[in-house]
Amino acid sequence: ASKVSALSLNAKKRKGKKISMVTAYDYPSAVHVARAGIDVVLVGDSVAMVELGHETTQHVTLDAMIHHCESVKRGLEFAGSGSMLIGDMPFGSYEFDDTDVALRNAYRFVKEGGCDAIKLEGGSESRAKTARKIVDGGVAVLGHVGLTPQAISVIGGFRAQGRTAVKARQVLDDALRLQDAGCFAVVLECVPANVATAITETLEIPTIGIGAGGGTSGQVLVFHDMLGMLSHPHHEQFVPKFCKKYAQVGHAIQDGLSQFKAEVESGVFPGEEYSPYVMTEGEKEAFD
Ligand code: KIV
Ligand code: NA
Repeated sequence: ASKVSALSLNAKKRKGKKISMVTAYDYPSAVHVARAGIDVVLVGDSVAMVELGHETTQHVTLDAMIHHCESVKRGLEFAGSGSMLIGDMPFGSYEFDDTDVALRNAYRFVKEGGCDAIKLEGGSESRAKTARKIVDGGVAVLGHVGLTPQAISVIGGFRAQGRTAVKARQVLDDALRLQDAGCFAVVLECVPANVATAITETLEIPTIGIGAGGGTSGQVLVFHDMLGMLSHPHHEQFVPKFCKKYAQVGHAIQDGLSQFKAEVESGVFPGEEYSPYVMTEGEKEAFD
């Protein structure tokens, strides 16, 4: 597969072709996403919630993020993938005024995690300065504005952003600052569709939406949410209302596990078919 890059994504926007992006957190999810030919694979800090069971994304460490990136990278390599791999910089790894800290941490995603680029949240003046520093250091940066979940304690909850004219203007300004700082694209999370469309038309770089309507340059969803990894016949899986469920993988997992339990208890498994190791007749006699 030809390699997806900042340049090829920009070309997609210019040609009016949509960009696909999905998260992956480990070897099997990476293999699946790569085999589907998804353009961009994001090792999201959503790993904190969907893989590690935390309430917010604030709890995943830099070391843990790198660990997940390494396994995703091996999955992409195994699949012979040309997808672009992006590592999500976690809460606390890039916010300091000393932008050297952010750059050093960004290099870890490239050198240890095998990433092609990093993502960071927010579009303030200071955040744009950090993005510029990282780009200047040679690492491509994906911005992220609108709902920025790492700032949950400031925002007060997972809710839509940019719903007034003034607030929408602020989201646009954030996106413009990130473009000026050299970001190659920007994620727009949970903003009204008309706002996301206007931002997309104003920016030269692509926008990748999540809960932002159909007017963006591309779409991103979280692997576990879109595939129903925790779906169950009798327990509701919480999935954000903007997320379409393309599968109910949890149902298949439950079917397999329940059958295994029943067959162990009834003695159907393993049976002759799954008991492959035998002694020669002579050894058997000596043993008996
Ligand atoms: O962590 C994540 O999964 C993300 C995407 C939703 C953009 O940041
Ligand atoms: Na994230």
